[in-house]
Amino acid sequence: MDLYGHDLICTQDWSVEELEAVLELAAKMKRDRFSPRWTSILQHKTFLMFFYNPSVRTRQSFETAATELGGHAQFLEPKTMRLKTATTAGETVEDAARVMSRYAHGLGIRILEDKIGAYGEGDDLLREYARWATIPIISMAHDKYHPCQGLADVMGWLEHLGDVRGKKLLVAWGHGALARSWCSVQEALLIGSRFGMDVTLAHPEGYDLDPQVVEWTKGNCAANGRTFEVVHDVTSGYEGAHIVYSRNWMSPDAYRDGQLHKQEEIDRALRYPAWICDAAKMALTDDALFTHPMPVDRGHEVTDEVASGPRSVIYDVAENRLHVQKALMALTMGSM
Ligand code: CP
Repeated sequence: MDLYGHDLICTQDWSVEELEAVLELAAKMKRDRFSPRWTSILQHKTFLMFFYNPSVRTRQSFETAATELGGHAQFLEPKTMRLKTATTAGETVEDAARVMSRYAHGLGIRILEDKIGAYGEGDDLLREYARWATIPIISMAHDKYHPCQGLADVMGWLEHLGDVRGKKLLVAWGHGALARSWCSVQEALLIGSRFGMDVTLAHPEGYDLDPQVVEWTKGNCAANGRTFEVVHDVTSGYEGAHIVYSRNWMSPDAYRDGQLHKQEEIDRALRYPAWICDAAKMALTDDALFTHPMPVDRGHEVTDEVASGPRSVIYDVAENRLHVQKALMALTMGSM
């Protein structure tokens, strides 16, 4: 599988075989973490990271991944650059992408939430970088997708369930005060359906996700002979679930007039306190795993009892960010 030079903006852009190649290598790297087979793969190579928004796991796991592969990762907050915007003069994406390509072997970008004025702008920016860069562009979470998170999720689910084909994934909206972007849940829907899961999406009326992502998920399920359904009540989706993914996301009305109306979204989301994953709802499942990309909004999206309970895989999934990103960098930027 030759993935050298490939961008990763959304897992839907890659074949299942390509995603499996990343997961297989990630599993080997996890089993034998400091083997000399891996420790020089990025020797003398640098991975650059542009973080428009804050991060804990993504930044730390990419830096650790580069170190463990014998390379280096360094980050920049684009607010310290002089980039051209709709209202200010500055450097174009073409120029930034071409120059970064002369320094490094990969470029990661995070842009979401309040750093965009309309849904889709973050995805457009990544694809503009990909158009001009001659090195791989990797999404480190943008408004539409979080592919590294999706890979880490499915790696964790496979570790715990052995096989996810035919298993039921519930992606349920959770209330809370974070007005989260759609990237992680959309990625979970896409990758879960690509890997042959039955998928249920549960949210209150008015919290629809990107129609294109819903269509792709439906198509992925149909291609695998699996089911896809959307429900708007709090409990029915839990019945028979093998994996429960409870996470807050903003409504489609969140971006208006070129900005994110965050406080409105928070006020609106807090009107649905019943939308929390708790032990009573988990009792309806088929002994489901609880999964979440973190950071977890405990007490809103999920109770402590479930998040810290015996069926929670949140720390395994968070650890897997390191392993899938090592595999991804090795395959797209490294000397294997
Ligand atoms: N899951 C995730 O991307 O975490 P951070 O926002 O901390 O990077």
